[in-house]
Amino acid sequence: MSALGMQVRIDAAGNLRGFYAGAGPEAPRILLGSHLDTVPNAGAFDGVLGVVLAVALLESLEGHKLPFGIEVVGFSEEEGVRFGVPFIGSRALVGRLDSELLSRQDEHGESVREAIRKFGLDVDELPQALLREDVLGYVEFHIEQGPMLESLGRPLGAVDAIVGQNRLEFTFVGRANHAGTTPMHLRHDAVAAAAEWIVVVEETARRAENLVATIGLMETRPGVANVIAAEARITLDIRHASDDVRTQTLENLTRKAETIAAARNITVKRRVLLAQPAVAMDRFLVGQIEQAIRKAGCEPHRMASGAGHDAMILAQKIPAAMIFLRTPGGVSHDPAESVQREDVVKALECGHHLLAQLATSREFLGRTCRA
Ligand code: HGY
Ligand code: MN
Ligand code: MN
Repeated sequence: MSALGMQVRIDAAGNLRGFYAGAGPEAPRILLGSHLDTVPNAGAFDGVLGVVLAVALLESLEGHKLPFGIEVVGFSEEEGVRFGVPFIGSRALVGRLDSELLSRQDEHGESVREAIRKFGLDVDELPQALLREDVLGYVEFHIEQGPMLESLGRPLGAVDAIVGQNRLEFTFVGRANHAGTTPMHLRHDAVAAAAEWIVVVEETARRAENLVATIGLMETRPGVANVIAAEARITLDIRHASDDVRTQTLENLTRKAETIAAARNITVKRRVLLAQPAVAMDRFLVGQIEQAIRKAGCEPHRMASGAGHDAMILAQKIPAAMIFLRTPGGVSHDPAESVQREDVVKALECGHHLLAQLATSREFLGRTCRA
């Protein structure tokens, strides 16, 4: 971005931010970008493709100035792997990187605040990370991470909503005992209780249309073969387009966990890590994206995103929308994740058309910023 003459900085939440000036000093700005972090053993495109596409788009402007500036953002910590809570970088832009979140600790007991300091940044400068008042909107390029666009033979999709999601930790607490001398009817086995509940979670999700529920992490204590587990700590990730369906299902599953635990004379604790409502994308921007996809010679597909994105955080303050690229095999969060080169070319063409459309849209340029 420096090579393009952009002002580049890293903000106090570790977001990489580059600014490409608009036609005049008073010009408003738009944001383009995505996240730079990944899940462990990830693919090479989730997040970073959106940042690189934004930079490539600016590069292709060849210094041409638009009636708005363009800020490229490479968000930090969107996945929520290290501290269990996602969207840490983008929350800083909307003023939600609060003291509770700053105090969250990673598995080594290091807090977000300490991690920021160790990285050489200053939490007191978080106010400078906030969105400026003159931001007209945010557009994020991202791989779909699912099978839809490939099944339809479409290179690009226009995201009109991002489903809501809860992320929680359930810890079943039983009683350790000897694996060889404890008869089955005298056990308080935390792993057996968790396993019984996990089957219920999967059956519940299979029965509920378009609901997904995932147990991604399971840790047992003491975690050795010849000791009945005293504790089983598991994570639940549950998502649905309807907030009512998602929250009602979560309440039902919580009650079921308590019933299973009680029947085994053990207890279960629940810790909420995330409760993120579904978010609609900006209708005007979705329409503009569909137009730009058509100008790039593709038939757009309007769709919801099952994956969470920084766009759902920014949408709380500014109009936000996303452009999906087809994901071959629908594989993501794995080294097999890929994109097709011609789809990336189409995404760039679409980006070009979108910038040209927004640059001549009185409706867009006349928007009063609500950042
Ligand atoms: O988990 C997700 O929804 C995304 O990968 N952050
Ligand atoms: Mn991801
Ligand atoms: Mn992502």
